[in-house]
Amino acid sequence: MSMLGGKVVVIVGGAGLLGRRFCMASAAEGARVVVADRSLEAAEAVVRDITAHGQHAEAAPVDITDTASVDALIAGVQQRHGRIDSVVVSAYPRNPQYGRKLDQVTYADFCENLGLHLGGYFLVAQRFGLHFQQQAGGSTGGSIVLLGSIYGSMAPRFEVYEGTPMTMPVEYAAIKGGIVQLVRYLAQWFKPAGVRVNCLSPGGILDKQPESFLAAYKAHTAGTGMLSPDDISGALLFLLSDAGRHVTGQNLIVDDGFSL
Ligand SMILES: NC(=O)c1ccc[n+]([C@@H]2O[C@H](COP(=O)([O-])OP(=O)(O)OC[C@H]3O[C@@H](n4cnc5c(N)ncnc54)[C@H](O)[C@@H]3O)[C@@H](O)[C@H]2O)c1
Repeated sequence: MSMLGGKVVVIVGGAGLLGRRFCMASAAEGARVVVADRSLEAAEAVVRDITAHGQHAEAAPVDITDTASVDALIAGVQQRHGRIDSVVVSAYPRNPQYGRKLDQVTYADFCENLGLHLGGYFLVAQRFGLHFQQQAGGSTGGSIVLLGSIYGSMAPRFEVYEGTPMTMPVEYAAIKGGIVQLVRYLAQWFKPAGVRVNCLSPGGILDKQPESFLAAYKAHTAGTGMLSPDDISGALLFLLSDAGRHVTGQNLIVDDGFSL
């Protein structure tokens, strides 16, 4: 039996590195997937890949920093399907200065990146949570999964970035730490309505990083090192499925032991 048979699952940031694989894995498990992204063109490309396998997916535009846009997404999916079971937020908004080292981060950039990412995640979770609460008087539940990161709960290991232009941005620590606690708050708030809220925190994901970094990172893991998006999908399916129906307010870390 499929894990998500017939469920309506909205994946925001569904055209991204992780989001795209989440859409494919959910559709393969029987979900009716809404690939929601700021780039409608990229979302439509994901839909083509899924429907080519005879599975269900549709594209929808959304900007997670715009209340009217998020509300329009909810209204459109509700109208087309008559219900929504889950929303996953895997968008990664950032401003052009994002990714600088600590001494170069301005106050304005710090605030803007927190607003875009942490603020956007809050907005999607709040609007969908209220919709789930209202849906059939709250009796049908609903599930929200926000993408976190290992860097939401561990100190950065700056040494793994040595010799590369990469770093672990200070905004990221604040955003992802904030998401872990936001999830606890929302899970408690929506608990009486049976709405579940969880955080899924991946370790580093392979994406053409320099070899020296990959080797330094791998030395802290159980042997795999950086993971692929497919290594994370199983944990997402668990959180969205009935197997995870009693799990709420949690931060599920999938990182091959890097954060230990
Ligand atoms: N890639 C990693 O190594 C890694 C590791 C741990 C956690 N994460 C987290 O996973 C999530 C996804 O990361 P990714 O690497 O797939 O990112 P990505 O940049 O590959 O994709 C993000 C997607 O979000 C969309 N997007 C950006 N701004 C948006 C907005 N305002 N509204 C709607 N959509 C918007 C983009 O169009 C893109 O399709 C993020 O929360 C990230 O922090 C990523």
